[in-house]
Amino acid sequence: MPPWLENAVFYQIYPQSFSDANGDGVGDLAGIIARLPYLRDLGVTGLWLNPCFLSPFRDAGYDVADFYQVAPRYGTNADLRALFAEARGLGLRVMLDLVAGHTSIEHPWFQASCQPERNRYTDWYVWTDSVWTWSGLNQPVVAGYAARDANYFPNFFWFQPALNYGYARPDPARPWQQPVDAPGPRAVRAELRAIMRHWLDLGASGFRVDMAGSLVKNDPGGHATAALWREFRSWLDEAYPDAALVSEWSDPAVAIPQGFHMDFLLPFNKPGYTSLFRRALPAAAPYFDRSGGGSIRPFLDEFLPLHAATRDHGFIAIPTGNHDAGPRLGNGRDVRDLAVAFAFLLTMPGVPFIYYGDEIGLRSIDGLPSKEGGYGRTAVRTPMQWDASPNAGFSAAPAERLYLPVDPAPDRPTVAAQTADSASILHVVRRLIALRRAHPALGAGGDFAPVCAEAGRPIFVYRRAGSGEVILVALNTAGAPGEARLPSGTMTTIPRVLAGEAAAFRQDAAGWFVRLPPVAYAVVATGG
Ligand code: GLC
Repeated sequence: MPPWLENAVFYQIYPQSFSDANGDGVGDLAGIIARLPYLRDLGVTGLWLNPCFLSPFRDAGYDVADFYQVAPRYGTNADLRALFAEARGLGLRVMLDLVAGHTSIEHPWFQASCQPERNRYTDWYVWTDSVWTWSGLNQPVVAGYAARDANYFPNFFWFQPALNYGYARPDPARPWQQPVDAPGPRAVRAELRAIMRHWLDLGASGFRVDMAGSLVKNDPGGHATAALWREFRSWLDEAYPDAALVSEWSDPAVAIPQGFHMDFLLPFNKPGYTSLFRRALPAAAPYFDRSGGGSIRPFLDEFLPLHAATRDHGFIAIPTGNHDAGPRLGNGRDVRDLAVAFAFLLTMPGVPFIYYGDEIGLRSIDGLPSKEGGYGRTAVRTPMQWDASPNAGFSAAPAERLYLPVDPAPDRPTVAAQTADSASILHVVRRLIALRRAHPALGAGGDFAPVCAEAGRPIFVYRRAGSGEVILVALNTAGAPGEARLPSGTMTTIPRVLAGEAAAFRQDAAGWFVRLPPVAYAVVATGG
C-alpha cells in the first residue's frame, strides 16, 4: 500500500472545464498548471484527471484514439510531464484516467481489427464470427459496421468497441468467445501494462480505472476480471510500489481485496451512496437534507459491512460527486448545509474525492444541450468559476466559444469571492482538509464506529481512532436543533474542540450528550 494514501485527499479535474490558458474556450494542461497553487492551498494531495488523450471526444475523451498521446486541445505530452513535475513540487500527485475496457472506433487498433485480412489486431476486440451473429442477445445495434464479416461488442456507447480480455465462461457453441488466456486477450493485457508503464515512467502516480469491473465478459461475480487486476497489482507492487489504483467498480468488497487500493462508492446498484446527498427514491429525502426527513441508516447498513470487508486491504473512496453523477452537491444547499456535508466527507475513513468546484458549491446547470456524449451529465460539467472577470475567469474566449456556458446566476460562487470571505464554504473545506491531514485518527485507515445512528434521526455521531487518538464527530443535518445521548464510556477525557460548534458536547448528571443547533457539526478529540 503506497503510504501516501493514508492521508490523501483527491481532487477530480474534468480538463475541458477547469482552466483555459490558451483562450480557445476549452480547458487545458497549462491552465491546470497555472492553478496548482490554488490546489495546494486547498490542501488536497492528489489530482485525478478525466481522460486527456487523443480522442474524437464523442464521449468526452472516454473514446480514446491513442493512449500514448495527449489530445492537442489540452497540450502536449511535454505539458503533461510538466504538470506531473510541477504538481509533485507542490506535494500533489497526479492520477490519470485509464480507459481499460474499450477504445474509440477511430483508434488505429480498431481500424486494423475491422479489416477482413488477419493482422496483429484481429483479436484485440471482441468480434463475432459473422455479421449475422450479434455479440449479445439483443445487440444488433452496430451489425455490419466493418468490412470484416463480423460484429463487434460495444462496451458503452456504440462507438466504444470492447477490447478483448476474453470470456470467463466462453460458450462452446460460440467459438468466437475467446478464453482469457487466448493470444488476443494476452496481447491486450500486455498493452494495458505498457500504457501504465509509459505514464508512470513519465511521472504519473497511478490511475482511476474506467469500468474496471467489466473487462472480462460473461464473468459472474467478477472473478476473472478480479484475477486480471490481481496480476496487474502484483506487477505494480514490484515495479511501481508508490503507484495507486482506484476503480470505477462500486463493489469495494470485490474490487479492493482483488487488487485495487481504492474503489469508489457510486450511485450504481445499491442505494447507500445516493441516499447521502441525492434523492434515492421519489419519496425519500437524502440524509444531508434540511427537512430532516432522511436517515443515515441506508448508507451505514451498506457501508459498515463493506468497510469491515475491505479495511485490511484498501480504502473506500466517497466522492462529493463526479462527471457522471448529478445534481451537484451545491444545488439547493447553502454554506451551512455544505459545511455539514464536507465535515462528514472529510472525517470518514477511506479516501475522499472532491469533484472540481464542489469546494465552492458550484451548481449544476440543467437543460443544456448534450455536449460530447454528456446528455444529462452535461449539467455537472460546466466551467469552474474563478473570479468576477468575463466567463468567471475560466477562459478569455468569447462566451459563445466556451466548451460549456458558465453558470449565468448573478450569485454564482467564485473562488475569488470565497477566498476573501473567511466564512465561505471554501474556507471551511480548507480547514477540514487541514484537520484531516493533521490527525492520524481521521486518516484513511483509522478506526470508524457509529456511536449514535438511529433510523430517521438527523443526528449522527461517530468515532474515529488511531495512533492513540480518539475523535468524535457529530452531525445534525436538519433545520431544527437536535440532541442525542452518548452511550457511557464514549467520552474518555474532557473533549477538546477541533472544529465546528464549540459547545456541542456537554455533560449532566446522567452522562455525556451532544446538542447541536440546526444544520451544524462538531469535531472533538477525547482520550489518547
Ligand atoms: C465511465 C465514465 C463515463 C464514461 C463511461 C464509458 O462510466 O465515468 O463518463 O462515459 O465510463 O467510458
